[in-house]
Amino acid sequence: MWEYTDKVQEHFLHPHNVGEIENPDGTGDVGSLACGDALKLTLKIEDERIIDAKFKTFGCASAIASSSALTIMITGMSVDEAEKVSNEDIADFLGGLPKEKMHCSVMGREALEAAIADYRGVILPMAEGEVVCECFGVTDVEVIRAIQESNLRSVEEITNFTKAGGGCGKCEDKLRELLVQTVHEIPMAVKQKEAPKRMTTLQKIKKIEEVLEREVKPGLRKDGGDIELVDVDGDFVMVSLRGACTSCAKSQTTLKEYVEKKLREQVVDTLIVEEAK
Ligand code: FES
Repeated sequence: MWEYTDKVQEHFLHPHNVGEIENPDGTGDVGSLACGDALKLTLKIEDERIIDAKFKTFGCASAIASSSALTIMITGMSVDEAEKVSNEDIADFLGGLPKEKMHCSVMGREALEAAIADYRGVILPMAEGEVVCECFGVTDVEVIRAIQESNLRSVEEITNFTKAGGGCGKCEDKLRELLVQTVHEIPMAVKQKEAPKRMTTLQKIKKIEEVLEREVKPGLRKDGGDIELVDVDGDFVMVSLRGACTSCAKSQTTLKEYVEKKLREQVVDTLIVEEAK
């Protein structure tokens, strides 16, 4: 059972602005019934200001509450102001959403963007992305954006925010690849936010240290090398190689084929081991 705030329950049980505006100035149609969530947002705009917003949503309590909240938030805003509304703003308005339901707030933001784009007669870049998750029709552009905007650090978090990976799981490798690529492009200052995970960070760190101590260090020490855990950020495990390992030409192979493999087998199978800079 999800833990919903009072505000989510209130908007789910008594949603505002349900319906469709006749002859809207902007329409945003996102999601699909096949994927379990769909939202149609229609806007009435006068003098660059949203004077009315209505929605029709097919989905869970969070999807309905997010849509209802969105229409209240944007009514009265200028189009430029509404354009800046983020999925986090929608979730905050509702007093938070369960992490597994963050994709509902993302759907609200996407519908708003689509409606504004429709009003302005432009094509959203999302339409140009390559579909990486067939089950939910999620593109690489959507995944990269979610990673960047919400500081996601694991495939599980990507699934919470975009639904990608929440079906057959075939796209997980691709999602992990996008995660690694994207995180490396984000400045270090943005990397600090820690997100909730199944295993708490402390539990994960303890387990990683235990495996390094028991399984990895003895093998490296035999050859005059060593390894220290430097940091753990979501699925990223930063380590520092010591002794003979620092000058070894095969150090990257050791990290990936030996250390990462051991940690994936014994801690979490999504961990990504990297050398701290
Ligand atoms: S292809 Fe992504 S979950 Fe099936």
